[in-house]
Amino acid sequence: MKLSIVGAGYVGLTTAACLAEIGHQVYCSDSDQAKLGLLQQGQIPFFEPHLAQLVARNCQSGRLEFGATETGIERSEAIFICVGTPPLSNGEADLSAIQTVAREIAARARGYRLIVEKSTVPVQTARQIKRELALYGSQQLDYEVASNPEFLREGSALEDFFHPDRIVVGVESRRAEDQFREVYRPVLEQTFACPVHENCISRTRPAFLVTDTNSSEIIKHASNSFLAMKISYINMVADLCEASGADVEKVAEGIGLDRRIGRAFLRPGIGFGGFCFPKDLQAFVRIAEKAGCDFSLLKEVEKVNLARIAKFVDKVRQEVWVLRGKKLALWGLAFKPNTDDIRFAPSLAVIQQLLAEGADLQVYDPEAMPNARRQIAGVKFSEDPYEAARGAEAVLILTEWDQFRTLDWERLGSLLHRRLIIDGRNMLAPVKEQLAAQGFEYVEIGRVAHAAEPAAQSASRAAKKPGASDPVPIG
Ligand code: UDX
Repeated sequence: MKLSIVGAGYVGLTTAACLAEIGHQVYCSDSDQAKLGLLQQGQIPFFEPHLAQLVARNCQSGRLEFGATETGIERSEAIFICVGTPPLSNGEADLSAIQTVAREIAARARGYRLIVEKSTVPVQTARQIKRELALYGSQQLDYEVASNPEFLREGSALEDFFHPDRIVVGVESRRAEDQFREVYRPVLEQTFACPVHENCISRTRPAFLVTDTNSSEIIKHASNSFLAMKISYINMVADLCEASGADVEKVAEGIGLDRRIGRAFLRPGIGFGGFCFPKDLQAFVRIAEKAGCDFSLLKEVEKVNLARIAKFVDKVRQEVWVLRGKKLALWGLAFKPNTDDIRFAPSLAVIQQLLAEGADLQVYDPEAMPNARRQIAGVKFSEDPYEAARGAEAVLILTEWDQFRTLDWERLGSLLHRRLIIDGRNMLAPVKEQLAAQGFEYVEIGRVAHAAEPAAQSASRAAKKPGASDPVPIG
């Protein structure tokens, strides 16, 4: 099929490359001329595993092209709107880019077009797009506006595209439903050579859910908000575990084994970030408010998430005492591993708070350094995790990059002023005995040292730091 993708951000570019990979003729455009120029020269403006190879291969085969939005609109049977919907100051999504595209389609398209909203939009946006087309579209334009939310996670977006749990389409006609079945046929039937996993043979076929546009739009916001709620929930449970001497990882396992709950998204830490959860949560609260529903449950989810930063900095303070003038190593800036994205990353808030208290920060991230250099001032950027640790009183882990799991601990220890790791993601728990053997103190979220450690180890730790993280008696 001839498809056009408007917007070459994370969602648009990934969708464009993947749709080309499964056999469609894809034309991708962006209003940002500089970005378009980069793409036409074969450069990818952000890091996403496997994406650069996929874009290069499909450009070479001629199935993927980049150019002006008008051309895409004129050439394609279906137009996927993937432009940004950033938050306004009141938490609502800014839909101006969506409206601009709707008007461009109205001005350029002739004949039948399936117009697909893929950007995350509030419920009833399809209705608004239809109104624009009715007001400004030509007499020769015949169209259907449909919703097809994306559920791609940064860092594993390609995997999510090729092997999704479900594909949701909000349509008003059988014709549009059939068009979507045609677009996604190779994914629905799992009949393509998987570009992510070598020798990936057959996988479970994804569900294909057909619904109305309003429900489809709500599914996206409700999914993200639910996942955010799971994270805030486990973070509160982590605080309780920490205060009472329980082990949050065991608790998460225990509740996650219930199939009604599931194990995913129960990793405690310094909270969720990124360009989706924080903004989608706020937008959903606003959508509900406008509809007369007080979604106070989600306001609490956000409140709990914001409080993670102060809680973590407090932990640092408990360990190193006064922060002024203290050299600290910060590992991980991206909002999660396998991406260079630092938008709404918890690391930014942690850095802001530590700098405000006068700490001296040496930071490192495997992929996010270029973005971080543009946005963060007042810290020392390091070439690798070891350089960041030189002379520091503690290592603070803010993103669970794989690279941090297999370091030379002795070398690290020799560089540090004090062998202390405060792990905001509990990522080094599997090697904590190894760390203890090298003389490291290891501080986690939701688990006090002695809760899971052998008696001898916890005794040596207790001797070193009397009372700092002892559970409080309850009741
Ligand atoms: C999310 C949704 O998962 C995806 O379906 C949607 O399309 C876009 O938003 P993404 O923002 O890429 O994807 O990241 P995700 O993997 O969901 O993680 C979001 C944040 O939650 C990260 O900061 C991550 O560190 C945090 N998180 C996740 C936790 O703190 N604990 C967990 O158990 C899971």
